[in-house]
Amino acid sequence: MALPEIRLLAAAEAPEAFADLARLHAEEISSGFLTSLGTGLLARLYGAIGRSPDAFILTASANQHIVGFLCASTDTRRVYRYVLVHAWRHLLPALARHLLSWRTLRRCWETLRYPARSPVPDLPGAEILNFCVTQKLQRSGVGRALFSAMEGEYRRRGVRCIRIVTGANQLSAIRFYEKLGAEPVGTIEVHARTESRLFRYSIQDCHSAPSADA
Ligand SMILES: CC(C)(COP(=O)(O)OP(=O)(O)OC[C@H]1O[C@@H](n2cnc3c(N)ncnc32)[C@H](O)[C@@H]1OP(=O)(O)O)[C@@H](O)C(=O)NCCC(=O)NCCS
Repeated sequence: MALPEIRLLAAAEAPEAFADLARLHAEEISSGFLTSLGTGLLARLYGAIGRSPDAFILTASANQHIVGFLCASTDTRRVYRYVLVHAWRHLLPALARHLLSWRTLRRCWETLRYPARSPVPDLPGAEILNFCVTQKLQRSGVGRALFSAMEGEYRRRGVRCIRIVTGANQLSAIRFYEKLGAEPVGTIEVHARTESRLFRYSIQDCHSAPSADA
């Protein structure tokens, strides 16, 4: 199978691209907190993250549909700050009805507070914020192609090391990161009583980019 086309989403991308991305996120990470807030909010959130100078979004597309994406930051705290300052007007209407729930308020607070917490010393501020591939194309190399393009973008931005946080129940992601050579460095509770796995990953030089036999 030919790999879908990988490209970097532009800051001024059409809203449909972010809606596509939000749909994919909701399908593949169906039990996630952000998914519970609805695809309308997710699309606005990705739009705001995509405009942040400290973030980038790579997509894999086939037949004009996004079949996979990887969203990453060079500094997550700065991305959150950018989103709060520049996009709150767009996010608030979609978020308002959820804010009546104490549980949602707490989870919003935990999400915002999380980048400042570091259970492991010297963790880089750069990280993979989200990453998924549509179910029917998983295990066909799309994730690896997105990851490799991510490394290229990090190299271009001068970032040499990143952290990765993924839910302890996201087994496909854990296996993927292990296979690609990420170093497990511990666990963290982004949300209370929900364990996530923490990895550190050194961006490979061009000529030693991920090997199929790793
Ligand atoms: C993680 C994810 C993006 C990987 O994408 P992918 O396109 O399936 O990955 P690839 O096909 O490039 O896999 C590369 C290697 O990773 C490993 N791997 C990937 N998925 C795996 C799985 N479910 N079980 C075991 N190993 C797996 C394999 O070693 C694989 O190589 P192989 O197929 O030649 O054996 C995808 O599984 C996914 O969308 N998962 C659900 C969403 C998610 O958990 N996201 C993480 C948020 S941080």
